[in-house]
Amino acid sequence: MKKAIVIYSKTGNTLGVAKRLSEKMNVEVMEIKVKDDNPNIMEPTLTYIPDISNYDHLIFASPVHGFNLSKVMQVYLKQLPDLENKTADLYITHFFPFAWMGGNRTLKQMKNILESKHCKVNRLTSINWKSKRRESVIQTMIENYSM
Ligand SMILES: Cc1cc2nc3c(=O)[nH]c(=O)nc-3n(C[C@H](O)[C@H](O)[C@H](O)COP(=O)(O)O)c2cc1C
Repeated sequence: MKKAIVIYSKTGNTLGVAKRLSEKMNVEVMEIKVKDDNPNIMEPTLTYIPDISNYDHLIFASPVHGFNLSKVMQVYLKQLPDLENKTADLYITHFFPFAWMGGNRTLKQMKNILESKHCKVNRLTSINWKSKRRESVIQTMIENYSM
């Protein structure tokens, strides 16, 4: 089964986790790039659009922006073709202390877009960057996602 990690990261947190996961899984990290990374832009223009056509299993990851999935990841996921026969695991990174302040909602948004394209979404992880438990959440996720 061919696997890859597809992320958007504005300030490096989501990317840092992806690099650790990619080392453990020995898979490539593909980073979505935008013309202007101002998070207030409603329809950001993507300048690098990772091609996932050759992969069976994807890990998609994004930061939470304004209690929602980052616009960049929204635009990326929505432009994907049908994902029948592909599976995915997801993670998001966020800052605010409670999951209801964006984390849960963001994972749900990612899952809904992917499922609307017939992708089978398996595992979901929310990483709170301010939490004392951050490192253990990351380590558990890396163990689970690399199995
Ligand atoms: C414009 C903007 C909006 C944000 N909104 C939220 C939010 O609603 N809830 C939250 O928990 N964190 C929020 N954050 C914090 C980021 O989600 C968090 O720092 C994340 O780990 C950043 O990931 P990155 O370094 O990969 O870009 C926001 C950050 C930015 C820059």
